[in-house]
Amino acid sequence: MTSPILQFLATRRSHPPKLMTGPGPDRHQLTELLTLAARVPDHGKLEPWRFVVLGRQTLDALAPKLHAAVLADGQDQAAADKAASAFASPVIVAVIHSPVDSPKVPEWEQELSSGAVCLGLVNAALASGWGAAWLTGFAALNRDFAQAHLGVAPHERVAGLIHIGTPGPTPPERPRPDIAAKTRFLP
Ligand SMILES: Cc1cc2nc3c(=O)[nH]c(=O)nc-3n(C[C@H](O)[C@H](O)[C@H](O)COP(=O)(O)O)c2cc1C
Repeated sequence: MTSPILQFLATRRSHPPKLMTGPGPDRHQLTELLTLAARVPDHGKLEPWRFVVLGRQTLDALAPKLHAAVLADGQDQAAADKAASAFASPVIVAVIHSPVDSPKVPEWEQELSSGAVCLGLVNAALASGWGAAWLTGFAALNRDFAQAHLGVAPHERVAGLIHIGTPGPTPPERPRPDIAAKTRFLP
């Protein structure tokens, strides 16, 4: 594969947030990444997603609230510490799935577009030399927390928390799918 784009797609991999350090992208750099991420297939051009950028100040304020919410959910100290430590990333972009009422486009297709935005943002960040990873976890999946602290409306959901920062050591490769085993060619 000679094309640098194909080379990137063939070798891209997420960076675990715990290996990332500051700084993260600034507002101008983030706006460029979000513009690239938003260039995704979107049936009906509904744009059923939006972004909430969580900067350092916000993450520092939310980490203890997340810790308390995980404990209040009945999980143990270790789980609460792990959840809160994820907010140590330099920048986190919450990709909010914000479905639009449409007689033509079922919500399932809108969810797929929100997922595409998440991958688009990870890839734009990685291709720009940042470390990036698509995570969810309690902060994204617990609707009370997301509504209280991430500004998510009742009809919305968090499609992903995209962690972006200065990459640390290259993460080890993970087993990749066996395409031959996962593919049927119908004549
Ligand atoms: C919707 C979604 C949610 C995810 N949530 C988490 C998570 O909370 N924690 C985690 O370690 N990986 C999570 N992952 C997996 C990582 O994003 C990623 O796939 C994994 O680290 C391997 O990365 P790579 O195949 O991009 O190299 C999630 C992936 C998706 C698609």
